[in-house]
Amino acid sequence: KIFNKSLLPIYDKPMIYYALSVLMLADIKEILIITTKQDKDQFQRLLTDGSQWGINLEYKIQLSPDGLAQAFILAEDFLDGAPSAMILGDNIFFGHGFGEMLKDAGNIEDGARVFVYPVNDPERYGVLELDDSDEIKSIVEKPKTHVSDLAVTGLYFYDGNASLLASKLKPSSRGELEITDLNRLYLEMDKLSFCNLGRGFAWFDAGTPASLLDASNFVSTVERRQGLRIGVPEEIALDNAWIHRDDLRRLPNAQKKNDYAQYLARLIEKVL
Ligand code: G1P
Repeated sequence: KIFNKSLLPIYDKPMIYYALSVLMLADIKEILIITTKQDKDQFQRLLTDGSQWGINLEYKIQLSPDGLAQAFILAEDFLDGAPSAMILGDNIFFGHGFGEMLKDAGNIEDGARVFVYPVNDPERYGVLELDDSDEIKSIVEKPKTHVSDLAVTGLYFYDGNASLLASKLKPSSRGELEITDLNRLYLEMDKLSFCNLGRGFAWFDAGTPASLLDASNFVSTVERRQGLRIGVPEEIALDNAWIHRDDLRRLPNAQKKNDYAQYLARLIEKVL
């Protein structure tokens, strides 16, 4: 599920590169991009069919913003009962060992997994409440009174039942099919697990101008300090051996005269 905001740049890459990179790190090659009617063509022009990165991209329109869980109804034919992951196009993740966490979540055949992160403003998010033995007690969407500091990030893994369960949901008071309600169905079946990204990690929901700026400053700082870039689909495709150096050399992104192309040139020359 990718938002129209995803066309905005974070530092100097389109926001959607970050979300796509996470799915690619999770070894996911079949991806459906759900977007608005107005934005679909722009995404398709930018990303095409994904073959340049060794993946397969399809596109679907969500006619009105009726909630994140609707993605699983829209994606029913695409998923065809297979396990899946959903990432929100305005979420940015960065942290050591993330690839392993993702691959572990991708192994789930029965149940769902959410990723949580401690935040200062939990009322903006879905929140996970834990009991004394760190088991999930409840999951609440944008709690008005304090429940816990653990925000549920916009990255979810499900078994093959997500579309079926999503079709049973009723719209919330804000008129949306809430992803939190889908997760609660899994919790009620005792099939919801979580992974705490922890304080050594960075997670941004870049859905407001201030958080977009925060995410952009963060990415810029880390990238300029390390000389390593965050959210480069070409790099992950190369690491996963989904494309080869010769393929990379021919890509439009590698032909440009900008820093991104120079980074790809360094990847091609294996100097990173
Ligand atoms: C959505 C989800 C919320 C989640 C957040 C993460 O919020 O409803 O549970 O914590 O994404 O980015 P929304 O973007 O709809 O406010």
